[in-house]
Amino acid sequence: MKEDIYTGNCLDVLPTLDKDSIDLVITDPPYFLDGFDNNWKKGQVLVKERTGVIGGLPVGMKFDRRQGIALQEFMTDVSNLMYVVMKPGAFAVVFSQPRLAHRMAIALEEANFEIRDLYAWHFNRRSQPKAFSMDHFVRQKVMSDDEKEELIEKLQGRKTPQLRPQFEAMILAQKPKIGTFIENWLEHETGLIDMAASLDGKAPSTIMTVEKPSRSQFNGHSTVKPVRLIEHLIKLFSIPGQTVLDPFLGSGTTAVGAKKLGRRYIGIEINPEYVSIAKRRLDMAPDGGKCMNVEVLDPNNMLAWVCFILKRLFLMFCLSLSMSRSAWGQQKSAKELVFFVTVVQ
Ligand SMILES: C[S@@+](CC[C@H](N)C(=O)[O-])C[C@H]1O[C@@H](n2cnc3c(N)ncnc32)[C@H](O)[C@@H]1O
Repeated sequence: MKEDIYTGNCLDVLPTLDKDSIDLVITDPPYFLDGFDNNWKKGQVLVKERTGVIGGLPVGMKFDRRQGIALQEFMTDVSNLMYVVMKPGAFAVVFSQPRLAHRMAIALEEANFEIRDLYAWHFNRRSQPKAFSMDHFVRQKVMSDDEKEELIEKLQGRKTPQLRPQFEAMILAQKPKIGTFIENWLEHETGLIDMAASLDGKAPSTIMTVEKPSRSQFNGHSTVKPVRLIEHLIKLFSIPGQTVLDPFLGSGTTAVGAKKLGRRYIGIEINPEYVSIAKRRLDMAPDGGKCMNVEVLDPNNMLAWVCFILKRLFLMFCLSLSMSRSAWGQQKSAKELVFFVTVVQ
């Protein structure tokens, strides 16, 4: 199976991937929480700076309408490259903070994708109110103390327009299919969704409630997505053995979900520290492709097939040995063998 983690700028790496080879894109592009400041240039990662206005607030969290325009330009370039490597009918699920979701959607549309839906990743944990009070600014004004107190009183504790965030947007974009849904599926196995994938036992809905990763699962990256949510998206929009791409891999959540579900993965991340975290997480993730699922074996990989057949023969040998020992009354060693077989399995 081809599985690749690239350290680099996705604008450079995407053109090196095979055309029409990707079955699904799940990605969480940077949106001004990663140290991008107001002079944010196309995808360039800048050192974290402070606003100087509110001591603890990263520059990127300061409202600036140029951010949306810069994001749209950058994501149009990325989307154009994603489009080339994706199969006809393939889906792209692109995360966005709600206030920039329109820019993200336009960028995808500019690159010829069809915008199919808008989903919400809903969460409760660690959703602190982001609004801040005006008192700090009033106290910096050139006016008497009495006037300042009067103004603070007049504002009645009003804050900046940010409610407690409880969801992130996910845009569902699709590379246009060729022919009908059925014709496209028969040719590419893309473009249709698996309604059996469920987060809560009910039919999958546009609101996906999954809590943010807990502190104990925190891996040092500031915007880690929950593996359970990514797995749900992978099940909805792909089948085992297909290839999932994330051009903004971060700490590797998309690749971890793909590996666990027996999909191939390709991830691109510009920051080598995050690449190390992603590789560590991938080493620890169980490999869904290693189960006895013929579907996920690569037909061109002879070694995988030889291993598969040898493993099957070995298990059959162990089982027949256990049965013959049982027949001869050697119950204990038969039980040990069955236990061994279960572990190998
Ligand atoms: C929002 S984070 C992704 C987090 C990821 N979903 C996770 O669960 O860990 C976006 C990532 O994109 C990376 N990035 C920013 N610009 C990039 C570029 N031009 N090419 C590749 N990666 C980039 C950042 O370093 C950051 O780790």
